[in-house]
Amino acid sequence: MSKLIIRPETEDDYRNTETLTREAFWNVYRPGCMEHYVLHCYRNDPAFVPELDLVMVLDGEMIGQVIYVRSEIVCDDGRRVPIMTFGPIGIAPAYKRQGYGKHLLDYSMEKAMELGAGALAISGNILFYGKSGFVPAKTKGVRYADDPEADYLLIRELEPGFLNGISGTYRDPAGYFVCETDPEGFAQYEATFPPKEKLHLPGQLF
Ligand SMILES: CC(C)(COP(=O)(O)OP(=O)(O)OC[C@H]1O[C@@H](n2cnc3c(N)ncnc32)[C@H](O)[C@@H]1OP(=O)(O)O)[C@@H](O)C(=O)NCCC(=O)NCCS
Repeated sequence: MSKLIIRPETEDDYRNTETLTREAFWNVYRPGCMEHYVLHCYRNDPAFVPELDLVMVLDGEMIGQVIYVRSEIVCDDGRRVPIMTFGPIGIAPAYKRQGYGKHLLDYSMEKAMELGAGALAISGNILFYGKSGFVPAKTKGVRYADDPEADYLLIRELEPGFLNGISGTYRDPAGYFVCETDPEGFAQYEATFPPKEKLHLPGQLF
């Protein structure tokens, strides 16, 4: 019988986790990917939530990872409502579309709830996140700051009613843009991995 566990990431995992993230995201949203560098840099960011830095291990093999980051909704009345976002979340290519991603997400959301997060926002695919209770954020009064009509900004209440009466905007935390703000650092980091072919594929966003 196979043994599946979800546990906190340890320092010994770091390279393995980043390799997994690189494999999971490679050529999915753009030729190559950047998410492994985002993960690499986030662990030192004050917004990073160490308790929700999780890996999924199947029979001793790491097959999934997720991290969480503190973020906020900026309300039209000036209030700032702390929430969380998450990602990168990745499943090793050989294990995608077998339910592991949903299991990891649902488990980590339980943990986020235990830590007191009232809601989670993420820009992503409703076909995946909708299965875990996410809805377009604009239906809950939360607009994507740089693209107010976006229906790909998704949100999920962890505390029922947490978003009641809210009208405001959401911006991805600065750490998600590290590859744009530090292209040289990213290039040096990427050079530490074995070369991998970057492909232009249908469905990529960038
Ligand atoms: C996205 C990802 C984490 C999902 O994990 P997964 O293990 O492949 O997904 P699951 O098997 O748990 O899927 C759960 C449900 O979402 C749906 N789903 C998952 N990925 C989907 C996709 N890309 N398109 C459409 N539906 C999808 C599945 O159909 C499944 O529903 P079902 O059980 O009714 O069939 C994984 O595919 C991955 O690592 N992708 C590359 C990295 C990425 O995109 N991360 C998210 C960035 S926002």
